[in-house]
Amino acid sequence: MASVSFHDIKKAYGKVEVLHGLGFDIADGEFVVLVGPSGCGKSTLLRMLAGLEEISGGEIKIDGKVVNDLESKDRDIAMVFQSYALYPHMTVRDNMGFSLRLRKADAGATAKRVDEAARILNLDKLLDRFPRELSGGQRQRVAMGRAIVRDPKVFLFDEPLSNLDAKLRVAMRAEIKALHQRLKTTTVYVTHDQIEAMTMADRIVVMHDGIIEQIGTPLELFDRPGNLFVAQFIGSPAMNVFDGKVHGSVVKALGQEWPLPPGLVVAQGASVHFGIRPTDLMLSADGVAAEVVVVEPTGAETELLVEVGGQQVTVVMHGRTDAKPGETVHLTYDTTKAHAFDAANGKRL
Ligand SMILES: Nc1ncnc2c1ncn2[C@@H]1O[C@H](COP(=O)(O)OP(=O)(O)OP(=O)(O)O)[C@@H](O)[C@H]1O
Ligand SMILES: [Mg+2]
Repeated sequence: MASVSFHDIKKAYGKVEVLHGLGFDIADGEFVVLVGPSGCGKSTLLRMLAGLEEISGGEIKIDGKVVNDLESKDRDIAMVFQSYALYPHMTVRDNMGFSLRLRKADAGATAKRVDEAARILNLDKLLDRFPRELSGGQRQRVAMGRAIVRDPKVFLFDEPLSNLDAKLRVAMRAEIKALHQRLKTTTVYVTHDQIEAMTMADRIVVMHDGIIEQIGTPLELFDRPGNLFVAQFIGSPAMNVFDGKVHGSVVKALGQEWPLPPGLVVAQGASVHFGIRPTDLMLSADGVAAEVVVVEPTGAETELLVEVGGQQVTVVMHGRTDAKPGETVHLTYDTTKAHAFDAANGKRL
């Protein structure tokens, strides 16, 4: 196990800089998720940590030791990719033990490590099968098994679940989390799926265009997003955002008055983005009038798309509703859970 630290990390391909000086620390045993839209530099950063990509500027340390010039194989890191890249002509057992055999490890010790990993991953009964005889989720577990037997200081995952169907993805998500709780190996996990990030991470690093937008625990990012980008990226369905101007203790937007969170003082006339999560809006007898556009029952919850002042607004409510498209409903919200962001720079107010 090990700590990892990034200091002022830059990456350029030719003249194009794709990482612009990133810095953060990962504690020993922590599960950190890098999340952000496609092309923001997640895989690049992970591959730099793995030693598969040259570092254009800055320092990466593992356990306090600079590894910039250390070869990948000497970094004691195991990486699991989106494509599991198992050897098709080898059994599960041989696939899992391959890296140890390559290192000329003792055969008895290798067998023991493979058996132990197979037990942890519930692969004991599949050890003599070939990859073509496995389901997608089982193959994914073999790929993880291959990483586990190496007993690395750090696990790196790059979108390991994106090839799996939705149900399997949820199951594997829980398995990886349980695995981390058992092994407590420092883990860096890349995904563009914010639900995966929320459910798995000790801390999330939100990246965007080669910079870090915010670092925090899942609920810190959800409850107090530091800027508009994080506010709209974290949380599903996304936060509703209205553009308006501050008058006294309300924001005037969409032809309505929206009370600001109590205690939040914003300059009069300031332009703001005012945000309310779909789950923080409620249907009530009075409040802001809205026209129902679409009603989507999912069983336990109902998602409503409504229109206020020409803008579509999403409401997620517990339970069910009789509301029908074309009808008028009224919305209220818990003002302590509203968010306001500076219209000029997107920063939280
Ligand atoms: N070998 C390369 N040469 C030039 N540009 C590259 C190279 N590899 C990546 N890039 C660019 O670097 C940026 C970051 O790429 P990266 O693969 O890290 O994104 P990502 O966040 O992992 O995205 P995704 O979610 O799509 O996997 C992108 O703009 C990409 O086009
Ligand atoms: Mg990537």
